[in-house]
Amino acid sequence: MNWRMWKPILSAFLLAVALSGCSRDKSGEVEVLHWWTSGGEARSVAELKKMLEERGDTWKDFAVAGGGGETAMTVLKSRVVSGNPPTAAQVKGPGIQEWAREGVLANLDDTAKAGDWDNLLPDVVSNVMKYDGHYVAVPVNVHRVNWMWANPEVFAKAGAEVPTTWEAFAVAADKIQKAGFIAIAHGGQPWQDATLFESIALGTGGAEWYRKAFVDLDQDALNSPTMKKSFETLRMVQQYIDKDAANRDWNLATAMVINGKAAMQFMGDWAKGEFTAAGKTPGTDYVCAPAPGTDGAFTFNIDSFIMFEQKDDAAKTAQAHLAEAIMDPKFQEIFNLNKGSIPVRLGMDLSKFDQCAKDSAAQFASASTNKTLVPSWAHEMAMPPANKGAMFDVVTAFMNSPDMTAAAATEKMAAAGK
Ligand code: BGC
Repeated sequence: MNWRMWKPILSAFLLAVALSGCSRDKSGEVEVLHWWTSGGEARSVAELKKMLEERGDTWKDFAVAGGGGETAMTVLKSRVVSGNPPTAAQVKGPGIQEWAREGVLANLDDTAKAGDWDNLLPDVVSNVMKYDGHYVAVPVNVHRVNWMWANPEVFAKAGAEVPTTWEAFAVAADKIQKAGFIAIAHGGQPWQDATLFESIALGTGGAEWYRKAFVDLDQDALNSPTMKKSFETLRMVQQYIDKDAANRDWNLATAMVINGKAAMQFMGDWAKGEFTAAGKTPGTDYVCAPAPGTDGAFTFNIDSFIMFEQKDDAAKTAQAHLAEAIMDPKFQEIFNLNKGSIPVRLGMDLSKFDQCAKDSAAQFASASTNKTLVPSWAHEMAMPPANKGAMFDVVTAFMNSPDMTAAAATEKMAAAGK
């Protein structure tokens, strides 16, 4: 072979070496803090890992167990304080703004611009992802919190109907208990108590009052007969929770509904991820319905990731890859099919999604027109973390102190909102 024949082969070889060097330079490791450890959650996060690795980066898993993410947030604080933040962390709502104010977050504007996020995200979402007009977080999904998950076989055996009001709930729950089943699957943990109370309050006071109380922290709305009524209803509902609920994890409560020990659970649609992981079909094996009194309203909970500022170029590129992967339509579909939520990206084809997801998407749209779309305070979306923590304490103290009156709890809620 002479030089003329070798030349193209040699150039192709050199180009391949150069390219592989390039991609090596560009790939980086991303350490991702999250609290997705249940069956359905783990299946979902595995898809994110896969999408990142397809972009040539390495995923370092930093999972901190604990539903609702309170433990994860404590661990995150200690890592940042010790000067060793992860590359990315699952953080939501006003918590995003708090981290941004510390000046430790990476600016994601370039990735957002390239991906046209401003046009692909509803305003109610992009507003939360921005600090001072700049993107500092990337949204994953939209969870609806005010759901009730029911086992239709248990209802049928008890001769009860899936309730649409809290009065009808009491009738159904009595029948279910008489038939020898547990009426409500619940875990006695502050965030689960708050999740239950949040749905009761929305069903009692409606979206306008809810917004005044839990978003505006309006003292008149907090210290009101509606709040008192909500606590009275919580006391009634509480009777139908079994004695072993203390500290039970939410996914174990979901399992009780899946296997027919309990009739219903009040939980956001990450619970659907557990039904999906167990191979169950909505409509036949289980039923999703709005929590009593909340049809037409929607408490939203958006999972999102913040990225901590990096010095290293490879780490910065990997962060951009992660943000880009999260907004990729392929990821939005597969992740949300497993997670139980709906895609956050507008204009997605929902044909592969089940009826619960389709209902959720329809209600998200109509609630946003009707002003009945409200942020979930039990899931960090509505108020500063300090107020949220104080309200969690009140609800949990009420649940654990049979002698505390609804009036006393109402006063404490108002104090927690200050
Ligand atoms: C998160 C969900 C998660 C759930 C249970 C919620 O606050 O938004 O993604 O599945 O907690 O851990």
